[in-house]
Amino acid sequence: MPARVTWSQYRTSIGDRSGMFAALADEYPIDRVLYPGSYVDLSPSTAFRSVTYVDTDARAARFFADDEQIRAELAGRTRPGAGREVQFLAADYNRPLDIPDASMDLLVALYAGPMLDHTMRYLRPGGWLLANNSHGDAGLASLDPSCRLVATIHHRGDRYRLSPDGLADYLIPKRAPDADAGRIRATGRGIAYTKTAFAYLFQLN
Ligand SMILES: C[S@@+](CC[C@H](N)C(=O)[O-])C[C@H]1O[C@@H](n2cnc3c(N)ncnc32)[C@H](O)[C@@H]1O
Repeated sequence: MPARVTWSQYRTSIGDRSGMFAALADEYPIDRVLYPGSYVDLSPSTAFRSVTYVDTDARAARFFADDEQIRAELAGRTRPGAGREVQFLAADYNRPLDIPDASMDLLVALYAGPMLDHTMRYLRPGGWLLANNSHGDAGLASLDPSCRLVATIHHRGDRYRLSPDGLADYLIPKRAPDADAGRIRATGRGIAYTKTAFAYLFQLN
């Protein structure tokens, strides 16, 4: 039996990202969310009605299998209408998932990629991609002509802020040769940028 881990425990190491998803929910019509490589980060369910979590880790599978625990962890933390559908796929996101193509409004790619080659297909046209630079997904998105940067995300502790300002100053590589999708795919390392944000929000054309 895998060790029992919970979102409340995990929050003590990564913080609570609920404020980031609340800021996204305030700004954009997002209903269905896909979070590959979620581990036990339940925070999107505080802001959105339907979230599908995907992970290969048995501890995540054990956490999401316990409906009572999920309800208890979300209690008192959800926005109206949020947290209704919490689905978990014990699956490798590099393989086809049991999810219709173009069915998701938001794809979350945080610290778990590079994943975009295999997961962008689930995002609907006009949908949003939230990616950070840790495992190269923000870099891959920045090199993809079908993705447009629409906001940056900043935080101080658990206080998150979405900014549409000065976007042209972001995603500028310190070294031109780093801006290479093949290198990112091979190394799983992001591009070093001249100006950084915690995460980047892209919109799919
Ligand atoms: C560093 S954790 C990050 C968890 C969470 N995204 C966060 O930001 O706190 C990476 C997670 O991605 C999962 N992961 C990595 N590769 C995966 C794959 N190919 N398919 C599904 N899950 C994967 C790992 O099992 C792990 O739980």
